Parts: sequence; C-alpha cells; structure tokens
Amino acid sequence: TPPVPSLCGVPLKYISLVTLAVQNSLLTIIMHYSRVSIPPSQSYSAPTAVLLNELLKGSISLAIAFTRIDRSTSYASDTPPGLTTGRFWHPSKVWLRIRRLGREVFSPDCWKLSIPAILYVIQNNLQYVAATNLEAATFQVSYQMKILTTAAFSVLLLRKQLSASQWLALFFLAIGVGIVQIQTGMGGTAKTASTLLFAGTSMNALKGFMAVVAACFTSGLAGVYFEMVLKNSQADLWIRNVQLSAFSLLPALVPIILSRPSDAGFISSLFENFGAWAWATVAIQVFGGLVTAMVIKYSDNILKGFATSLSIVISFLASVALFDFQITFTFILGSVVVLIATWLYNTPVRSSGSVRLGFAVK
Ligand code: C5P
Repeated sequence: TPPVPSLCGVPLKYISLVTLAVQNSLLTIIMHYSRVSIPPSQSYSAPTAVLLNELLKGSISLAIAFTRIDRSTSYASDTPPGLTTGRFWHPSKVWLRIRRLGREVFSPDCWKLSIPAILYVIQNNLQYVAATNLEAATFQVSYQMKILTTAAFSVLLLRKQLSASQWLALFFLAIGVGIVQIQTGMGGTAKTASTLLFAGTSMNALKGFMAVVAACFTSGLAGVYFEMVLKNSQADLWIRNVQLSAFSLLPALVPIILSRPSDAGFISSLFENFGAWAWATVAIQVFGGLVTAMVIKYSDNILKGFATSLSIVISFLASVALFDFQITFTFILGSVVVLIATWLYNTPVRSSGSVRLGFAVK
C-alpha cells in the first residue's frame, strides 16, 4: 500500500479536515463582520471579492500544478534524459513543464468544468447576500441544508443509493434548520454589536434565507457535477482547479459589468471601500477553496460533513463571544438536531454492506 501522506507524522487527511472546520468558522464570522461592521453605503463590492477569489485560487492552483506536472505518470516515458535530474528552474525544464501544463489545462474535456464554475460563482455571490442579512451562526446552520441538496443531486445524477437512516437524517436536518428559522422569523434574532453601532445596517432575514436556499442548490449541483468530472478522468486535481477558476472568470465579471461602477476609474471603483476585512474575507475564501480540494483528495465528503458540523459549534461559540449573539432555546434545539442529523447521515451502515454511503469522492 502507498505511504499515507503526512506532515510531522500527522496524516494530511486529519490536518486538512481540522483546517477546513476552522476555515469554515473563520469565513462565516469574518465575512459577516466585514459586511455589517460598516454602514451599507461604505460596503465593498462582493462581486469584486468573488472575482479576486477565483483569480488568486486559480493562480495558486496553477503554481501547484506546475510543480507537480513532472510526477504525472503519463509523461514518464516522454521525458528527455537529463531532464529528470538537476536544477528545477533550468529553462528547458521550465519550457517543457509549461507545454505539458498547457496540454493538460486545455484538454478536450476542459469545457465540462464550465458548469460547476458558473454554479460556484453564483453560490459565492449568494453567500455574501446571506452573510449580510443573517447572523453568522444562523447562516451556518441554515447552510447545512446543502447536505440535503447534495444527496438529492447524488441520487438523481450519480444514481447513488441512500440507506433508510440517511433519509431519516435528511428529514431531521430539514426539521432542525426549520427550528433555527423559527427564532429568526419571530424576531428573536439578537442584534449584533455592529448593528447597534450603525443604525443604518439592517438585516433582512427572509432575503438572507432565500439566498442560503439558492446557495444550497448550487452547492449540491456543483459539488456532484465536480465529483462526476473528477471520477470520470485521470486528470490531476490541481489541473481541474485551474480549469474551474478559469471558467469562473467570465461569469464572475458579469455582475461587475452589470453593476456599472461609479464615474471613477473602472479599477478604482472596483476596489472602493475594499479594506483589510474585505481582503481577509477573500484570503480565507481562497484558502478554503484549496483546503476543500485537499479534503477531497486526502479524505472524502463523508468526513467533510463532520468538519462542517464541527465548524457550526466553533462559529456558534465565537458568535456569542464576538457578536453578542444571544443564545435562545430554539437556536440550541435546532443546532443540536442539525448536528445529530449530520452525524446520523455520516454513520456507515454496518449490516449487509450493500448500501454505500453517499457522495464519497475518491
Ligand atoms: O460548501 P461547499 O462545499 O459547497 O463550498 C464549495 C466552495 O469551495 C465554493 O466556494 C467553491 O468555489 C470552492 N471550491 C473550490 N475548488 C473546488 C471545489 C470547490 O474552490 N475544487
């Protein structure tokens, strides 16, 4: 069996999962803070943030793919002698790698990534609408509904089979999210410290919830589609990430062009109010995209579900400490139901072994 990839003796699988849980919580909190800590008239452009996310993630993925291309087994036989040893930056080696990268990135099936790319751009924009209009913890719990949509699309598109306990778990998930929504709908949501500071910043829970529901649909469909593309080919994950980001650029530009920035120069209007918190949000999102890829590679979506549910608890506690989020009984009840449902969904069926767990990406 091949050696388990590890860092300082700890398997990358666990490192990437814990990192994803912390990243998920950080993103929810920092994105929320970056949107509500200032009056709406001074808020930064979410479409700019989404475009920057794709540009940075694509560039980093390209750099990683560049360093890994030599390891691709498909080139083992056509590597000229003398190129396998010596300096990494030798010009002829660099040129060879660039040619190989070009061939991989512009592969005949690269267009397949355009579908998840468009869906993820929509999702990433909707995430800002949700984070602006919902409490960080409420957003995080509601966003768990993507397990439901992922399951539905897995059954529809991948013909995956779900066990009875998994269907039950999905039912409980919907109930749990519903309970959390009751407290939001009844006006029980605590005002954040920032909302109290800036009377102009008002949250529209219904708008936020609609954005979450739509984001859950795009998440499920994009995730399942990305899984289909990954499983049906041998291409390197980082090459797929480059293709994903490349196809995201055009749809990410659409809302920027439609919103017709002010009379100031195009670039300066793009970066209007783009302060430290906006950059922090983008950086955490870029990091998250890369860690998601690592989790898919070194672990699978089953454990990814656990990481996400762990991040609910982290965000919840942080919201209490940072945003003055008031704990209500319905919030705790709803969160507990969501956590139990997530656990139940991710628990393998031991019996006959004929039922495979949901959307595991190898
Ligand atoms: O929560 P969910 O798993 O749907 O979130 C996926 C997020 O990860 C999106 O923001 C998407 O842009 C990003 N992603 C990525 N690279 C992948 C898959 C997803 O950057 N290969």
